[in-house]
Amino acid sequence: MHTTVALTGASGFIGGVIARHFSQAGWHVRGLVRSPRQAQELQDLGIETVQGNLESPASLLPLVRDCIGVIHCAAAIRGVSREDFHKTNVIGVSNIIKTCLAQSPPPRFVLLSSLAAREPSLSPYAWSKHEGESVLAREAGAIEWGIFRPPAVYGPKDRTLLPLFKLLRKGVGLQLGPSHAKFSLIHVDDLAQAVLLWLKNGGPPFHTFEIDDGFPGGYSWGDVFRLSNPHLHFCLRIPPVMLKILGKSNETFSRLFGYVPLFTGGKVAELLHPNWVCDNSHATQTLGWTPQISLKEGLRRLFTSDTLTPSQRN
Ligand SMILES: NC(=O)c1ccc[n+]([C@@H]2O[C@H](COP(=O)([O-])OP(=O)(O)OC[C@H]3O[C@@H](n4cnc5c(N)ncnc54)[C@H](OP(=O)(O)O)[C@@H]3O)[C@@H](O)[C@H]2O)c1
Repeated sequence: MHTTVALTGASGFIGGVIARHFSQAGWHVRGLVRSPRQAQELQDLGIETVQGNLESPASLLPLVRDCIGVIHCAAAIRGVSREDFHKTNVIGVSNIIKTCLAQSPPPRFVLLSSLAAREPSLSPYAWSKHEGESVLAREAGAIEWGIFRPPAVYGPKDRTLLPLFKLLRKGVGLQLGPSHAKFSLIHVDDLAQAVLLWLKNGGPPFHTFEIDDGFPGGYSWGDVFRLSNPHLHFCLRIPPVMLKILGKSNETFSRLFGYVPLFTGGKVAELLHPNWVCDNSHATQTLGWTPQISLKEGLRRLFTSDTLTPSQRN
């Protein structure tokens, strides 16, 4: 059976894990990379690589040729304005769709979106993920697609939540949102399995899946602290006004020192939103997928993982 899958974002946190899951399931994985150094690292893991980027449609053709599935995982996750995200997260989706439409038959298509797409007015990033979904629905033509909207994802090589979990291990809880807020989490291995199931078993097309680790009703910050470390020394709650000042200050510093920031006013608006909770029932009914990794188990794996160096663990 011909089972080549094309993957964008193969050099990233989630894409790297998806590549490993498909490879271990016997698929031939062809990943898009932007630099030769990343290409070498992936080739060492048995992944075929194609060098290119989302802004260059010509470079996407050798990526998707003869594939039965495309997983579009690449995205800009740092930036301040809509312009910072538009080229990659909106035009990029359009470029890869057009390339897929030129194939006969066109491959099935997975878009790694985000739960943030539910609230496009909150931040430029949320807006761009929502627009990316709209572009897919509008331009996909004969392509059968599935959209996955994960909440916050954690696992080895994640750079966003790992610092918070490391602090928690040391007995310090850093609360970055309101006490009443509820949010979902998912371990990256569970997310990768859901995507694998959708492509492998011919999951239902034209569906959007919001999936999490199944913690009932979502986590409060207090739940995360309690489950991560029952012996917390102290908890530092950063008030919303301070978060807003920090986000705006980082935007200013980024302009002065020429870097692309992750922590911005938009990110703070996302953190202050009271409801980022998923419901797995749709994915369970239609895909037969259920999450396997609780937060406790996920953290155990994270801190015993071979993929974390000793310095990353501390
Ligand atoms: N992490 C989370 O908690 C989370 C939650 C919800 C949704 N998501 C979504 O999941 C996906 C993966 O996120 P991640 O956390 O794995 O991010 P990541 O580690 O930053 O990976 C992003 C990937 O996209 C690639 N990329 C960015 N711009 C590109 C371009 N113009 N052309 C080609 N490749 C490009 C990057 O390549 P380089 O290595 O060359 O930079 C990298 O491989 C994204 O769509 C994100 O929106 C993530």
